[in-house]
Amino acid sequence: MSIVLEEPTAGTGAITLRLAEVGDGAALWRLVRDSRVLDLNSPYSYLLLCHKFGDTCLVAESEGEVAGFVTAFRPPDAPDTVFVWQVGVAAQARGRGIAGRLLERLVELPACRDARWLETTVTPDNAASEALFASFARRLGAGHDVRPYFDRDHFPGDDHQPERLHRIGPLSPAS
Ligand SMILES: CC(C)(COP(=O)(O)OP(=O)(O)OC[C@H]1O[C@@H](n2cnc3c(N)ncnc32)[C@H](O)[C@@H]1OP(=O)(O)O)[C@@H](O)C(=O)NCCC(=O)NCCS
Repeated sequence: MSIVLEEPTAGTGAITLRLAEVGDGAALWRLVRDSRVLDLNSPYSYLLLCHKFGDTCLVAESEGEVAGFVTAFRPPDAPDTVFVWQVGVAAQARGRGIAGRLLERLVELPACRDARWLETTVTPDNAASEALFASFARRLGAGHDVRPYFDRDHFPGDDHQPERLHRIGPLSPAS
């Protein structure tokens, strides 16, 4: 699947959205490393997500480079939900609506379009991410509930912020 979001204009390349593939795993790992905000997981985990959950993961490409991504899965214990694991956009590509469009396209995917809820967790200090999910819910006219999820104590060590669950929906089948 390949969806062109932006036609090339002077000074900017086209942004293409497509399903993630195993060949994207290393680029996702690098983008997360360079974000200095997202939790950096093992390279293997990004390969596995792209390889085994590629029907629920998207990348945004600009001039052949990965400029953004969303990784997600359908939780086995909540079949009406799509759970967003991470979303990230390279620093130089931010502020162009890429993350918002990644979420919109995600819930339209064949593997997600029957989902009634989109869930994710966000640390309370991540204003950009809070704004992203609030804006997504507004555009869809969906509810947006935020509640505690993982406490500090759940994490090893004591340098991790708590993670709050953002639950957005109900999503309409036409989303
Ligand atoms: C969060 C992130 C993915 C947003 O990507 P983006 O492509 O720049 O976001 P968009 O342009 O689609 O903006 C979506 C909404 O979020 C808002 N937003 C984006 N960055 C923001 C910021 N730094 N502060 C406040 N609001 C912000 C936008 O104004 C927009 O809201 P609007 O539709 O009401 O105008 C990007 O900043 C990023 O990768 N950050 C580091 C990683 C991260 O924190 N990921 C999320 C945790 S899972």
